[in-house]
Amino acid sequence: MADAPKLVFAPFAAPSRGALVVFCDDGLKFGPATRKILGAAADLVQRAAKSERFSGKSGASLDLIHPEGLTVARLSVVGIGKAAEIRPRDFIRFGGVAIGKVPPGAAEVAIVAELPGRTMKAGEAADLAQGVRLRTYAFDRYKTKRKDEDKAPGQRTVTVLTGDPAAARRAFPAREAVNDGVLMARDLVNEPANILYPEEFARRAAALKKAGVAVEVLDLRALKKLGMNALIGVGQGSARESRVVVMRWNGGRKSEAPVAFIGKGVCFDTGGISIKPAASMEDMKGDMGGAACVTGLMQALAARKAKVNAVGVIGLVENMPDGNAQRPGDIVTSMSGQTIEIINTDAEGRLVLADVIWYTAQRFKPKFMIDLATLTGAIVVALGQEYAGMFANNDQLAERLAKAGEETGEKVWRMPLAPEYDKMIDSKFADMKNTGGSRWGGAITAAQFIKRFVDDKIPWAHLDIAGTGFDSRQNDVNRSWASGWGVRLLDRLVADHYEGRAR
Ligand code: BES
Ligand code: MN
Ligand code: ZN
Repeated sequence: MADAPKLVFAPFAAPSRGALVVFCDDGLKFGPATRKILGAAADLVQRAAKSERFSGKSGASLDLIHPEGLTVARLSVVGIGKAAEIRPRDFIRFGGVAIGKVPPGAAEVAIVAELPGRTMKAGEAADLAQGVRLRTYAFDRYKTKRKDEDKAPGQRTVTVLTGDPAAARRAFPAREAVNDGVLMARDLVNEPANILYPEEFARRAAALKKAGVAVEVLDLRALKKLGMNALIGVGQGSARESRVVVMRWNGGRKSEAPVAFIGKGVCFDTGGISIKPAASMEDMKGDMGGAACVTGLMQALAARKAKVNAVGVIGLVENMPDGNAQRPGDIVTSMSGQTIEIINTDAEGRLVLADVIWYTAQRFKPKFMIDLATLTGAIVVALGQEYAGMFANNDQLAERLAKAGEETGEKVWRMPLAPEYDKMIDSKFADMKNTGGSRWGGAITAAQFIKRFVDDKIPWAHLDIAGTGFDSRQNDVNRSWASGWGVRLLDRLVADHYEGRAR
């Protein structure tokens, strides 16, 4: 991983060297502290803006090299558009945009955390720093050769200049904890499947013990004893043994039921005997994005000592074609006792979730369950890569998730569940089959399948993250293939509604 920048908060003052980043609105207006820092250079900025036709539109920027009147090597002016239209979730983005304007060679960067016509609160300055870190993440551990211009100057220092540095400093650790969870999830998703197979994933999850998370790894013998035959069937064609990992963070009251997060962890999905075409199959190293998010979330909750009891349960398998692999037509008995006819071995995620969800409900009787899975290509057809698909048996949970999505920018769109879809997955030979047969409503029939393993007394939401977990367009806070999607969303959901005395 690229060296993490050193992030520091300091009071407003003109930096003597390095790169300086300031914000302006679409009227080229600066805040008072920024004006003071720019001093005589403000006039230069106005003239340069005119000749470059820079008007401060959101995302646009103006770069000045060795600007007269300042001692810094470069000045970047970043437009934020209309100050009145700024949403809370934009501050993380501003941090990403700001650091994105600076060449990687700059060892010292100062960002003025001030917007025209609006004071930036300490928490917002801390958000900005959070965005800097998210944006500078790179997964380059397998690059042994680097171009000169990509060479980092050793550890760089990014200073966030703000009105109340002490308060921003106090607000930052909780955000840093969430960041560590996001970056952990990204690392897991980026890691290739020859390195990250179920046992190795379980080892990495076990590292959460350091943060105070209780981690149990269920091996194949334990899974057999529990009767998780739906999950076991998926992994039986692989040379790598399947695992289920249970992570528990107890930051809440002892008697309080936990909230539960469940992740699909298919470390590689070839499709099995119903093998996938070669094109883009390499992306299926990311088919454990749900499990990665759950693991990163548990890391985040523990690191910021969230006042909540939370469990994370992930089903880790590899879906391979082999002499021992599961066949189309096979019938398996899930842990719930319900039987499943396998029609397509490439519809494996729902088989893993069926057993892990059932197990989690039985063992923990959680307050709610949210599962995350890179489950269907159909959800990408429906929603693209902007929204994850959300299916829920409970309106309050769905609304809370939608709101947390708007707050964090990790957005979810509710999709229907309805008994009418059930007939598509009824089987001639077993209680159900694992695909709807037709491609129509593919994300919905998958969700409807999972719902058969959910106790309707427990609020439950299923997030299909096939479009958001990886390979999304590079955005302001992420340049890597893996997104770490969902960690910030679910951390926010917990923080807003399930911590302390919140209901
Ligand atoms: N892991 C895939 C879904 C997927 C596709 C995730 C593309 C991310 C990007 C899943 O296991 C799968 O193969 N789903 C099939 C289901 C079908 C066989 C019913 C699909 O979506 O085609
Ligand atoms: Mn598949
Ligand atoms: Zn899959």
